[in-house]
Amino acid sequence: NKFTLTKPAGARSVDEITGSRRLRRMRKADWSRRLVQENRLTVDDLIWPIFLTGGTNVREPIDAMPDVFRLSVDQAVREAERAAKLGIPAIATFPNIEAGRKDETGSHILDPDNLINAATRAIKAAVPQIGIITDVALDPFTSHGHDGILRDGIIVNDETVEQVAAAAVLQAAAGADIIAPSDMMDGRIGAIRDALDANGFQDVAIMSYATKFASAFYGPYREAIGTQGLLKGDKKTYYIDHANSDEAVREAEQDLAEGADMLMVKPGLPYLDIIRRLKDEFAMPTFAYQVSGEYTMIKAAAANGWIDGEKVMMESLLAFKRAGCDGILTYFAPRVAEILKG
Ligand code: PBG
Repeated sequence: NKFTLTKPAGARSVDEITGSRRLRRMRKADWSRRLVQENRLTVDDLIWPIFLTGGTNVREPIDAMPDVFRLSVDQAVREAERAAKLGIPAIATFPNIEAGRKDETGSHILDPDNLINAATRAIKAAVPQIGIITDVALDPFTSHGHDGILRDGIIVNDETVEQVAAAAVLQAAAGADIIAPSDMMDGRIGAIRDALDANGFQDVAIMSYATKFASAFYGPYREAIGTQGLLKGDKKTYYIDHANSDEAVREAEQDLAEGADMLMVKPGLPYLDIIRRLKDEFAMPTFAYQVSGEYTMIKAAAANGWIDGEKVMMESLLAFKRAGCDGILTYFAPRVAEILKG
């Protein structure tokens, strides 16, 4: 008892409907799919964010980020060596500062021997061929977890900018190749550029976290750097409202006018529309940060057997390329590099 559609009079054949255009023709075999593939992910697209902690020979697991560790400097050097061998062009470092070193103004960011600077020096000495991107922001260093100096409940912009610019000079002096300000204060890019130039670091580039959105996807990161539980309130007075897209264009335009060499969009996958807009608008080197929460969602679903984790990982990264990214900061970087190596 099966329904058969009576062909209406004058029914068109598929060839009549499509005008003989058949989009499946080029999908018919692996070789033809490869031939027409528009975007590719290569190891050259990867930036690997790593977490730093004190001590020696420490590899501390992070609960909410399976297979990601906080590394003491010696271990970070080992991992940088591994990354370089895999062909990963650059790493980005994020410090977990011990509670006793945090204060209201994040003053430890101005210690030339703090964790981030010590790690840069050690990695640069041992693995000079890998690029080092240092995040410059106060949040790992403040007792309240904000990216700025907090006074009477307000994140004060201009003083924060001064401190961030000074910290950037220290990071450059330690050997950072790219300074990546992630605090979203107004005027930080220009102030950092001026400070770097005045101190002989004309060749140090700036990757602006130009469009950093107020996002719940950063949750696991805060466990990783030990700011979860510290943060009072939220970051909505300095990060962009995630409802906005024109504002992201204005932010990027401003950062480029102030001297940013590269733009970053953060978080990543839920913001592909922003990536495409910035790439089309400015034609600048454009990066995305596949943040901790995005990583964790894939790992968690995979651990439950609900998705094929590695396939979803590769698909998510290729999506960034399709959206116009020149590269992606991703915690998956070493695994992806292994897979791409075959
Ligand atoms: C803040 C900073 C954040 C991340 C890196 N630097 C966001 C935040 O804590 O508010 C998030 C990275 C991630 O989630 O993977 N300067």
